[in-house]
Amino acid sequence: MNVKIFEKAEQLNQYAATFITQQIKIKPNLKMGMATGRTPIGLYEELVRQHIAGALSFSQVSMYNLDEYIGLPRQHDQSFYSFMKRHLINHIDVKRHNLHIPNGSVANMNEEADRYDKLLLQAEQLDLQILGIGTNGHIGFNEPDQKLIGGTHVVELTNETKWANSKDFEKAEDVPSYAITMGLRDIMRSKKILFIALGKEKAEIIQEAFEGNISTWCPGSLLQLHPDIMVLLDKEAASLLTYNKSPC
Ligand code: F6R
Repeated sequence: MNVKIFEKAEQLNQYAATFITQQIKIKPNLKMGMATGRTPIGLYEELVRQHIAGALSFSQVSMYNLDEYIGLPRQHDQSFYSFMKRHLINHIDVKRHNLHIPNGSVANMNEEADRYDKLLLQAEQLDLQILGIGTNGHIGFNEPDQKLIGGTHVVELTNETKWANSKDFEKAEDVPSYAITMGLRDIMRSKKILFIALGKEKAEIIQEAFEGNISTWCPGSLLQLHPDIMVLLDKEAASLLTYNKSPC
């Protein structure tokens, strides 16, 4: 596993953006898996900067988001659809028909999960999956459990996840209890994974995920099994690692 540790989040974001730019240069129609949350915001800002500077075009890139809250209309400020518009897609030249985000506001969520799974199947294999991790070890919204689901599915969010995400909502009660998420099969099938974690509140779970046992109770630990994963951490997130240290 390729673990890189950075003094500052800005350096990490620049490194990650340069890596993505190179991947798009090699394969202009790159199929990217996209994460939301606080972690990738700086990276997306950097990608937007590089696009505006003329160094990067997304005109042939396609994007597949990991997850979405259930019950929030797409226009809601805290839907992941709005997040993607706000932080990335409104500012770059990606084609709307190449953007795929599960819809959390349809009547039949199981049908929506099937639709999204078929879409991922048609895509065959994502080239590059961007990933963050929850403080409880979730990736996408695959929450810790005694078993994990391979395909896209509906999930009940844990209290820890709802608490962590309540910072983005006016009131804690406003955080949806359910979400739709890509499953572990499709995440693990991606050719490459670009994993990012920032801040000291991620230090414990980073140590558990990358140096602990592989367990469904820490979904992020399954990433130890991926053949081509790059793990980018700031020094706070890396602070509890004991042997996986290679400062940049
Ligand atoms: C969001 C996602 C989640 C987040 C995780 C960390 O699309 O897939 O797994 O990566 O909840 O969120 P932040 O970055 O807000 O700490």
